Amino acid sequence: KKSIVVLLSGNGSNLQAIIDEISRQKINAKIVAVIANQKTAYGLIRAENAGIPAICIDHTSFASREDYDTQMASCINEFNPNLIVLAGFMRILTPAFVENYQGRILNIHPSLLPKYKGLQTHQRAIDAGDEEHGASVHFVTPELDGGPVVLQSKVPIFEQQDAQELADRVQQQERQMYPLVIKWFCEDRLKMIDNKAVLDNQILAEEGYA
Ligand code: GAR
Repeated sequence: KKSIVVLLSGNGSNLQAIIDEISRQKINAKIVAVIANQKTAYGLIRAENAGIPAICIDHTSFASREDYDTQMASCINEFNPNLIVLAGFMRILTPAFVENYQGRILNIHPSLLPKYKGLQTHQRAIDAGDEEHGASVHFVTPELDGGPVVLQSKVPIFEQQDAQELADRVQQQERQMYPLVIKWFCEDRLKMIDNKAVLDNQILAEEGYA
């Protein structure tokens, strides 16, 4: 059974979806810790409610990004996880941190990457007049939101849609797709090789994606 550390900054609806799929025995894994950079993150309460160690490492008490990431790494290493899941973790990680866990960090980003890296993705997609938008799960590499994409999910953008409505629909997709990708990783059916996401070639057909 694989062990997972989840990093987050806010609500934690993706965390909840993962917790739920593990408790339904859809994912053969254990979340060994949830770490937030903000003590007000609701995701910490979700973790506590599920009996998972919930830890806050407040970024405002560190002088530099390097110091913060060093502390984060030593905390993570105490749990010796197979996988680090970023679930709404709103801080940029240093290359040193990322390289230390090569092929073992997944992120979910609310856009159809490589479009709209960074923030305000929903508003930017609306402002650009795009007809579709969505979310991407990708391996994390030192390039911000630039690591190899594993899976994307699309939603249409309707006329007169505001960013919040669009975000809600994207997040509904996220809660479906992220647990699925984590399940694949935990079954050793997904790996990062030479900076590419490599899936067991039966997966997409099985899951109805191909
Ligand atoms: C999600 O929509 C996720 O894609 C986004 O934050 C939200 C977190 O929601 N992540 C990023 O923007 C990463 N740069 P949650 O806390 O309810 O899971």
